[in-house]
Amino acid sequence: MVKITIIQPDGTEQVVEGQPGATLMETAKLHDIPGIDAECGGACACATCHVYVDEAWRDKTGSPSQMEEDMLDFAFDVRETSRLSCQIKLTPELDGLVVRVPEKQF
Ligand code: FES
Repeated sequence: MVKITIIQPDGTEQVVEGQPGATLMETAKLHDIPGIDAECGGACACATCHVYVDEAWRDKTGSPSQMEEDMLDFAFDVRETSRLSCQIKLTPELDGLVVRVPEKQF
């Protein structure tokens, strides 16, 4: 299993475990993490699964695709570390991943 720490805007941390091969968004939804709406169900078409990847994990999570970049234009308070969590697939290398949920999705 891949352990992920998800930090809310108020600093509350939740640690969840996901299956390798599942996406970060699917794992967050499975554990009812607040703030991850994922309205399009993972089709990279809504930007409501926006998260900030912890600086230390940016290399391992890689860069967003062009399609993801385009969709991120619609997200709230986009930063250098912004990603759409439906586009991050969990792998054993991501064990320990830390992400933050934005204040709001729009
Ligand atoms: S769930 Fe819609 S873009 Fe990620």
